[in-house]
Amino acid sequence: SHFRLSNSSFSATDDPAAPNQPFVIGVTGGTASGKTTVCDMIIQQLHDHRIVLVNQDSFYRGLTSEEQEHAQEYNFDHPDAFDTEQLLHCINTLKSGQPYQIPIYDFKTHQRKLDAFRQVNACDVIILEGILVFHDSRVRDLMNMKIFVDTDADVRLARRIRRDTVERGRDVDSVLEQYAKFVKPAFDDFVLPSKKYADVIIPRGGDNHVAVDLIVQHIHTKLGQHDLCKIYPNVFVIESTFQI
Ligand code: ADP
Ligand code: C5P
Repeated sequence: SHFRLSNSSFSATDDPAAPNQPFVIGVTGGTASGKTTVCDMIIQQLHDHRIVLVNQDSFYRGLTSEEQEHAQEYNFDHPDAFDTEQLLHCINTLKSGQPYQIPIYDFKTHQRKLDAFRQVNACDVIILEGILVFHDSRVRDLMNMKIFVDTDADVRLARRIRRDTVERGRDVDSVLEQYAKFVKPAFDDFVLPSKKYADVIIPRGGDNHVAVDLIVQHIHTKLGQHDLCKIYPNVFVIESTFQI
């Protein structure tokens, strides 16, 4: 074995000149795969750090009145449905330690609230969750860790029917029609192909406590190294690497 010098082993992709930046975790997977559930489990276990959860859903574009009239024809699963420029601006602002006002999206009206925002402040960890957060390379490149939540399609559809009828003001027929017309094809075209970018794939979503524990342990390790860099910004950490 031999030793190599590095000024931070915080992550493979972060900017070594900026060790104070938050650790960014991307969480993706199909609709109702358990992304939010996994994020909540991670957040609960990381209670001693300042964490911000950013939902890609918050960056859905509001529909125009014309689109609104034909909302059944609108593809909410296509990358163009999101304002990705604004999402990038949000993550970059938070990474630079500034607060950001995140829009609030209403799934019943397909609109953003006009005057209300969710203010988020400086943090140690940003978790960015959504069906297409691995799609745009500029968003992907901001992530220090990428997680894909992998749950069977029948389980996801069953959960989606229940959720959309109970929480999102839909009827079963419209959920099934939207699923066949837009949700499933976009999953095959955009979500599944983005799985290759994942560092970690979690089978069964929130049921998989072992995977969540391992991820939390890894984040703790990374944040510990991060804290060292904050305290001793000019000190080099010696890592050992092994050569076979
Ligand atoms: P996503 O963020 O991927 O859309 P959620 O975590 O919001 O997924 O879960 C979608 C729905 O399925 C929610 O109603 C949630 O309560 C339910 N759900 C999520 N994980 C489980 C689970 N492991 N067992 C049972 N229901 C679950
Ligand atoms: O929470 P989840 O990841 O399932 O949210 C993404 C889903 O929300 C997409 O599959 C999209 O079809 C759906 N959606 C919707 N109506 C909107 C916006 C998004 O049904 N107005």
